[in-house]
Amino acid sequence: MRRRDVLWHLGAGLLMLAGATFAGEAQVSPGENPHPVHLVRPHAAPLSAMAQLGQKIFYDPSLSSSGQLSCASCHSPQHAYGAPNDGPVMLGGADLTRQGARAVPSLGYLERQPNFSIGPEQSDDNVVSVTIVAALGQKSTRATKTATGTAASAANIVPQGGLFWDGRADTLQGQALFPLLDPREMDGGSIERVAGLLRHAPYFERFVGLFGAGVLNSSRLLVSEAMFAVARYQFEDATFHPYTSKYDYWLEGKARLSESELRGLQLFNDPDKANCAGCHLSSPTRDGLPPLFTDHQYEALGAPRNAALIQNRDPTYFDLGVCGPQRKDIAERQYCGMFLTPTLRNVATRHAFFHNGVFGSLQQVLDFYNFRDTNPEKIYPLGADGRLQKYNDIPQAYRTNVDVADPPFNRHPGDEPAMTPQDEADIIAFLKTLTDGFQPARSTD
Ligand code: HEC
Ligand code: HEC
Repeated sequence: MRRRDVLWHLGAGLLMLAGATFAGEAQVSPGENPHPVHLVRPHAAPLSAMAQLGQKIFYDPSLSSSGQLSCASCHSPQHAYGAPNDGPVMLGGADLTRQGARAVPSLGYLERQPNFSIGPEQSDDNVVSVTIVAALGQKSTRATKTATGTAASAANIVPQGGLFWDGRADTLQGQALFPLLDPREMDGGSIERVAGLLRHAPYFERFVGLFGAGVLNSSRLLVSEAMFAVARYQFEDATFHPYTSKYDYWLEGKARLSESELRGLQLFNDPDKANCAGCHLSSPTRDGLPPLFTDHQYEALGAPRNAALIQNRDPTYFDLGVCGPQRKDIAERQYCGMFLTPTLRNVATRHAFFHNGVFGSLQQVLDFYNFRDTNPEKIYPLGADGRLQKYNDIPQAYRTNVDVADPPFNRHPGDEPAMTPQDEADIIAFLKTLTDGFQPARSTD
């Protein structure tokens, strides 16, 4: 996290809590942002013809083998483009009984997601080839990430960007093919089969209009253009990135946070307390882009194994994120167990949290952050030998990859937890201000 963001925060946060104002500044009521900013939202325009075609495809269940699953079935517009169900994962396949491998992420706020790379933190200029730097990274040690940032962190070599929990796809276009063909999801079978379905879709004429008749001759081209259209839809349609949360309006001085929400924001940003902003960035960028609540980096946090996942009945199976088994191009073992830091926008609308959906509520997530190191017995099960199985979803050999440096993970058994129960409740209250659809005009609180 960049230093300038933090100064902005601490200044704003402290002022508000005290309800004070500096001489010469406008008087603000409690809960108002004393330093309103102008947020630059994506330009809203009617959908292009390409995006309109993408919208049709996004909602078309006939492209799945079951005839019942469209992209929107798992990425539901009524649920911030996340899963509509309460389970840890969704079911797919021909008869909708095959369990997905991971929790369904929201499709919101991906429009600024950088490509996958392994390189120095915060520096787009120096990012070189993934394989070269992956090897380099083996020799570098991680510096601590705190909500106030450190100069040393610039030397970190970290995986960042990309789509999916492990970053294995780069573009929305390339990504969309995975669920179409995945036997646990839409189960499309093959490119040829999907192309055949597209040729018979009611919107098929639009392909010819947009790409010319030639597009029908090559299955690969047809499916690729279809995926391009779906990507355009997600990019152009404002409902994927509305930036209409209470927090956005608070940043702009158009909404007030309650006492609890404000305390939550402060704790969220406090490097000695929750330190959430160390990874889930909460400040607008210098250019006024609204915060995305992710630094787009990967971390191994050591979430407990989810016994509800069928794949986990095999004791030798481990989902290790960046180093496989789903993605196969990163051999370096120091990235095993790392998953993408997700956005926290609309997080209160979700029912399954973390890559394996092991947590079912924000309370459980907060307890994980708070107690993983001070009271691990609250988080992990006991083994048959009666010993606590800390980090039980990562094989022993890779447990040293788990982040024990960034607060609140830098504590030890017996230490005071970073948060009190009230702190946790306040942070949850703050997280709820990140849900889109807030009406600024009607609210004073
Ligand atoms: C059966 C449920 C299901 C269906 C249907 C489905 N997805 Fe997904 N989607 C998932 C899951 C699960 C993930 C996370 C997979 C992973 O990380 O390995 C995901 C991830 C994604 C991501 C990456 C999001 C991120 O934050 O990195 C995008 C984009 C996406 N899906 C788009 C689509 C599109 C477009 C379609 C339709 C062509 C679609 N999905 C259909 C379940 C589904
Ligand atoms: C060191 C970086 C880091 C810090 C600090 C951090 N997080 Fe996270 N957060 C992550 C990563 C990485 C994941 C995904 C981990 C996984 O799936 O295994 C995550 C996942 C989450 C999720 C689940 C979101 C979803 O869609 O499933 C929530 C909620 C969350 N964090 C909230 C918080 C809060 C609240 C704090 C402060 C108490 C915090 N985080 C501190 C990196 C961090």
